[in-house]
Amino acid sequence: MCGIIGYTGPDPALRVLLDGLATLEYRGYDSAGVVLVDDRPGAPAELAVRKRAGKLQVLVDDVAGQDLTGSTGLGHTRWATHGDPNDRNAHPHVSGDGNVAVIHNGIIENYADLKSELLANGYTFRSDTDTEVVVQLVAALYDRAAQSGEGSPLARAVRIAVKRLEGAFSLAFVDRREPGVIVAVRREAPMVLGHRDGASLLASDVAGLLAHTRDVEALLNDQVAILTADGITVTDLDGAPASGHRFTVDWDVADAEMQGFAHFMLKEIHEQPRAVRETLLGRTDDDGRIVLDDLRVPSEELRHVDKVVIVACGTSFHSGMVAKYAIEHWAHIPVEVEIASEFRYRDPILSPHMLVVAISQSGETADTLAAAAHARAQGATVVAITNVVGSSLAREADAVLYTRAGPEIAVASTKAFTTQMVALEILALYLAQLRRALFPDEVADHLARMHALPALIEEVLDCERQMADLAQTVARARYVMFFGRHVGLPIALEGALKLKEISYLHAEGFPAGEMKHGPIALIDEGGPVVALATRGHVRSKIISNIEQVKGRGAVVLAIATEGDTEIKEHSDHVVYVPDVHELLTPILTVVPLQLLSYHVAIALGRDVDQPRNLAKTVTVE
Ligand code: G6P
Repeated sequence: MCGIIGYTGPDPALRVLLDGLATLEYRGYDSAGVVLVDDRPGAPAELAVRKRAGKLQVLVDDVAGQDLTGSTGLGHTRWATHGDPNDRNAHPHVSGDGNVAVIHNGIIENYADLKSELLANGYTFRSDTDTEVVVQLVAALYDRAAQSGEGSPLARAVRIAVKRLEGAFSLAFVDRREPGVIVAVRREAPMVLGHRDGASLLASDVAGLLAHTRDVEALLNDQVAILTADGITVTDLDGAPASGHRFTVDWDVADAEMQGFAHFMLKEIHEQPRAVRETLLGRTDDDGRIVLDDLRVPSEELRHVDKVVIVACGTSFHSGMVAKYAIEHWAHIPVEVEIASEFRYRDPILSPHMLVVAISQSGETADTLAAAAHARAQGATVVAITNVVGSSLAREADAVLYTRAGPEIAVASTKAFTTQMVALEILALYLAQLRRALFPDEVADHLARMHALPALIEEVLDCERQMADLAQTVARARYVMFFGRHVGLPIALEGALKLKEISYLHAEGFPAGEMKHGPIALIDEGGPVVALATRGHVRSKIISNIEQVKGRGAVVLAIATEGDTEIKEHSDHVVYVPDVHELLTPILTVVPLQLLSYHVAIALGRDVDQPRNLAKTVTVE
């Protein structure tokens, strides 16, 4: 959460910072702010800060026409943790002496103790944030740092200060006594660095750097970076030389643009055929056997896995639920799926023969990272399924299987979800192949079916008009219920999550068989129910469940398999998807539900790409 950007180089920094913030706004949009080191000749350098509550556009309108000079600066877009989302609590924060400014992503857990100490020493505070404590601390340490050692006193002060901080954070500082210098540090929150022709940049994720460079260095925990126009130096907290994790991003800057669509979400829904195709690319050798080059765990180890534990949050958790059916069915390994924030705080019984699969689009979700670390500490092998090369999860796992969805900007996840399901099903087939749970020709047949998916998703996308029409009715509902069984259940949960995230309608998903144990009491005349009713071994049970809610007044929208004309007798509306293997149906059935949510949100005039209270990358607990 919180987008951060920094620039030092030959160009006016303001434009670079505002453009960078526009690409990072999905990380938080409670407020936005910039600080420029105004070092025009003939006067001492000053810090010029502008910050406003609300969306980035409020700030952009505010600074338009203002004389804001400086070729070094920082920008921030906030998802509030400590302190209300108002102008005062917006970042950057400046030390009381006016020398140092900071932007911050994360939480300083011991801020209250540090604040008491600073208050006792006469410091005063202007905001309710944990962040202001850090900038006051660095300012307090600056003079001492300036008297000892070579190089940037700001960097030395930051190193000392950070040793006193507890929590998860990435921080960037400028100081008016050191124009042209930015100092950055991170612990458990992401920070990436880039350099190109006489300019250095930092950002909270690669999307912020794409317009400038694809060669990126991710700062590792407790590393400090000093950025100047000439280059970037990285040290540890004692000042010893260090280096971050260097990688090249294969995303294009155009991938992070809207390309004529009204919203990123709509663009990303329509990108799913391509994203799934890319994710399937190059996964087999000449003999049709699955080879996973990015999975650096010895085959022998995977062959002897006796249990798989999947951890994830949000939409990624739902793809994990789908994977459970595939791994158990194809590879015959028992699977548990758990919400990462729950897994990390219990005492899971793990062993070296267990495989933990951590799923995270961003690779930066704090709870998923912590769950993966917890599992590794107990000897389990951790495989990451992530969309972001160089992300923390990709670095810290034993092996990675990348989804190749390209940048996902809309807060509501769509193409990341479908590609996660594809990657996980490839993993399931790979495990089945290694353990000989399936014959080679069976594995090849399943893969061939998966390769047909992009064209089939394309067909499903044709239902958009129908979903837009249905959305007009759904938008007037007080609540919407989704139910399914087997692989239909995760899609019911995901359909409900999508709808509530972006339309703010009360939507819930249930196992269809559980309806009669409580949720059915909510059904009243005309209440919309979405039933996942595709062909499969539980279809007849779903039909019974549909009848049960229809008998109580529900208006039913069934997602069914092409050719199933009988379903029309049981439901008010039907959306058809092509007939595929039962375990692959979620990759198709979720698409109409994504489109339904999108059009309901549009009908209700919601901010589709930046729904209230949410953020794309959840780097705090
Ligand atoms: C946030 C996003 C969701 C996402 C979840 C997990 O809540 O809004 O779209 O599913 O985080 O994110 P991850 O990056 O770990 O998949």
